Amino acid sequence: MRTLTIRRPDDWHVHFRDGDILKSVVPFTARQFGRAIVMPNLTPPIVNSKMAMAYRGRILAAVPSDVSFTPLMTCYLTDATDPSDLAAGHRDGIFTAAKLYPAHATTNSDHGVTAIEKIYPVLETMQESGIPLLVHGEFVHHDVDIFDREKAFIDIVLLPTLKRFPRLKVVMEHVTTTEAVQIVRENRPRMGATITPQHLLFNRNAIFQGGIRPHMYCLPVLKREHHRTALRAAATSGEPGFFLGTDSAPHLRHLKENSCGCAGVFSAPVALQAYLRVFAEEKALEHFEAFASLNGPAFYGLPPNEGSLTLAEKPGTPPGATTIQNQGEIVPLFVEEQVDWSVIQGT
Ligand code: DOR
Ligand code: ZN
Repeated sequence: MRTLTIRRPDDWHVHFRDGDILKSVVPFTARQFGRAIVMPNLTPPIVNSKMAMAYRGRILAAVPSDVSFTPLMTCYLTDATDPSDLAAGHRDGIFTAAKLYPAHATTNSDHGVTAIEKIYPVLETMQESGIPLLVHGEFVHHDVDIFDREKAFIDIVLLPTLKRFPRLKVVMEHVTTTEAVQIVRENRPRMGATITPQHLLFNRNAIFQGGIRPHMYCLPVLKREHHRTALRAAATSGEPGFFLGTDSAPHLRHLKENSCGCAGVFSAPVALQAYLRVFAEEKALEHFEAFASLNGPAFYGLPPNEGSLTLAEKPGTPPGATTIQNQGEIVPLFVEEQVDWSVIQGT
C-alpha cells in the first residue's frame, strides 16, 4: 500500500455559504485543510471589512473543536468598493485578497464589477498594498460562446489589466483552458492559478453522459479534452504557479436538479481523494505536496502549515449526501463511488 505524507494542505478557493449550509460544510474542509480562501459571493455579498469579520466569526463557530483551521477572507469587489476600507481591512489582517466577479458571470455575481475601468482606483490601491486580485476569469456577453468565455476574458480584460498594473498580483481562479495555463506561465511570479478537481477529472462530455448531468455543471463550464490535458500537466508538474483550489460550491439538490440548475460541484468531502486520483494516474505523486501545500502559501507570502497529513492508497467509501436541516440535501462529488485514497492521519 503506497502512502504519502505531506505538509497539511490548504484550499485556495472554497464556498462555505452561510447559515445551516455553512455549519454542515465547513467541517469537511476544516478536517482536511489548514487554511482556505473563502469566497465572498453570499446574499448579500461580503463587500467590506465589517461584514468579513462577522462572516469569519460564523465560519470559526462551525469549525470542529478538535481541529485547527484558519479561514482567509476575501472582499467582493463592486463598482463602489472603497479602496481605503479594503486597504485597512488588509492591514488589519481581515482581508487576504479581493475577488473580481464580472457582473452576471456566475452565482451571486449580480453586484459584481460592470466594467474593469470602474475599479481602476481599487486596483491601484491593491497594487500598492500588495493585495492579490482573484479573478473569476469569464467575459460574459451574448456574442461570446460559453466555452470561449475564459479566452475572451484573457484577451479583453486580463491582458490590459496586467499591462496597466504591472505589479498587481493576480490569481486566475479555477482555470479551464490551455490559454489560461499559458498566461499564468508567462506572468510568473506575480500570477498564479487554482485548479479544481472537476476540471482535472472530466471534460465537457461528462455534462451530457447518457442524459443531462446537473451535478457536473459548474462555472467556468467543463471544456474539451485538450484543455483538460493541459490542466493535468500544469497541476502535476509541481510548477509554483499552480495550486489547489477546489471551488467546492454546495447547492441544494433540488436547486441543481432543476429546469434552471445552479452551477457548482460540492467536492469538499472528497477533495484530496479527487486530486490524488489525478496525481496517481499521472504518476506524479512526488509533486502533490507542491500543488497542495507549498505553492499556494509561497504565492500569498505565507509560511506552509506546520502540521502534516498522511494519505494511503486504501479504498474508501466517501460520504453520501449531506442533509441540511429543513432545507434538503447536498450531493457531493463521487457519491456512491469508491475512492482509491484515504486520509489516515493528520497532525
Ligand atoms: O460553479 C461555480 N459555482 N462557479 C462559480 O464561479 C461560483 C460557484 C458558486 O458560488 O456556486
Ligand atoms: Zn468559486
